[in-house]
Amino acid sequence: MTKKRKTARLPGDPSSGPNIERMIRVDQAGEYGAARIYDGQLAVLEGKKSAKEIRRMADQERKHLAAFDKLVAERRVRPTALAPVWHVAGFALGAATAMLGERAAMACTAAVEEVIDEHYRKQIEDLDSNEADLAEIIAQFRAEEIEHRDIALAHGAEDAPGYPLLSAAIKAGSRLAIWLSTRI
Ligand SMILES: [Fe+2]
Ligand SMILES: [Fe+2]
Repeated sequence: MTKKRKTARLPGDPSSGPNIERMIRVDQAGEYGAARIYDGQLAVLEGKKSAKEIRRMADQERKHLAAFDKLVAERRVRPTALAPVWHVAGFALGAATAMLGERAAMACTAAVEEVIDEHYRKQIEDLDSNEADLAEIIAQFRAEEIEHRDIALAHGAEDAPGYPLLSAAIKAGSRLAIWLSTRI
């Protein structure tokens, strides 16, 4: 039997076990947060022009979440302890930006998806060849997150009032949420 060659790992780097567990934990948390953001947006924007598009993206997030729920169960990953925080914070972020208007809601989506795109890209790079199936799932979801970002940009995200500040704040918050959900 030939051994599968692993990508170079430096001494002191964590072994693949905890890494994969952390990846699945943070991804489940992220997809949960994303679904809650869209829930918050829809609570405010129901009946508005962009609602149909938001609902379509929300449906995709639920599929992403279901896939990570399954992985968490299969691989016995400890889920993040912060789910109750993301439950509230995700919804609040979605609702608050939606209250600023449809373009602000789209600016929120564009910012979050940009961070998730970068996060998934790094994960795909870090995965060994023996985790090709997981890498493929993440790559597929990443493509859909990029699509969400593009939809948001096409719906005037960058024309939202205070866009640079709003976008920077949401990206910083999203990166902090990723950092926390990887660990806690
Ligand atoms: Fe997603
Ligand atoms: Fe998304």
